[in-house]
Amino acid sequence: MNNSKNIYLFSGNSNKPLARKVARLLDIKLGKSIIKKFSDGETYVQINEDVKNKKVYVMQSGSNPSNDNLMEMLIMVHALKAMEPKKIIAIIPFFPYRRMEKTVEAGESLTFELVADLLKEAGVDKAIVLDLHKHRSKRFFKFQRKELLAYPVIISRLLKKKLDNFVIVAPDKGSMPECKKYSAELGVPIVKAYKHRKVHDKVIIKKMVGEVKGKDVIIIDDEINTAGTLVGVVNELKKKKARNIYFACTHAVLSGPAIDRLKKAKLREVLVTDSIYLPPKKQLPKIKVISVAPLIAEAIRHDR
Ligand code: R5P
Repeated sequence: MNNSKNIYLFSGNSNKPLARKVARLLDIKLGKSIIKKFSDGETYVQINEDVKNKKVYVMQSGSNPSNDNLMEMLIMVHALKAMEPKKIIAIIPFFPYRRMEKTVEAGESLTFELVADLLKEAGVDKAIVLDLHKHRSKRFFKFQRKELLAYPVIISRLLKKKLDNFVIVAPDKGSMPECKKYSAELGVPIVKAYKHRKVHDKVIIKKMVGEVKGKDVIIIDDEINTAGTLVGVVNELKKKKARNIYFACTHAVLSGPAIDRLKKAKLREVLVTDSIYLPPKKQLPKIKVISVAPLIAEAIRHDR
């Protein structure tokens, strides 16, 4: 078990509220650093703590602007490495380029692998990540990796709703393994949707297998990006006369048309975690945020 007194936790700018919550739970202060931009857009970092022979944690979400946030992380790690800490552990609640863990067509980049290699090159000894995409990416880490899972936190929130006569809806094939965990824990069946993406942010549901008429439903996915998937599934569920519709996922990417789509969607509630910081313009009454700070604090406490 880590003694809080011997560790340093630094945070990049992408999700300071989450880093502060984790620091509070560990009863430590965030490590002092200066992070700023030169006028040409390049990033400057200076670490203002003596971390020699100490265990240091650096937290950063690879959310939008992903490239800037990733670069900030790499520069922080690189600056820390020069100060000879005992170990550098990157905490990445939302891994940048997490969906680029396979190529579909010739000429594409396995960008996930590139990001993992860059982290290693910068000086990361270990990464603590949260809900990667479909687990194909494990092989790309050429250093220690621990993956945290948000589903127990989300399930305990869902249990408080005391829903009756409800089903889990899997929006696509890829979400099935995750949905199976929810279905087993909650003891309810899974309804499967088969989606087709016409263009990047437009989704049509080709068919849905399972009974939803008159039932409450919880759609489970790993992330909500443009909300194309969610809107497609909600429309189909409404056609099939589902009752109240809930949606739960780990990563609230919410890019492009997502917020407008969510405002209009006939949804009771959207449960997300704070793996990505939600600025005020993205905070809607129907979006409820569950914190993963206790999960991360626990992982740091028990980290070896
Ligand atoms: C797809 O593989 C993912 O699991 C999500 O379904 C997808 O990223 C959601 O994207 P969007 O909100 O843009 O439909």
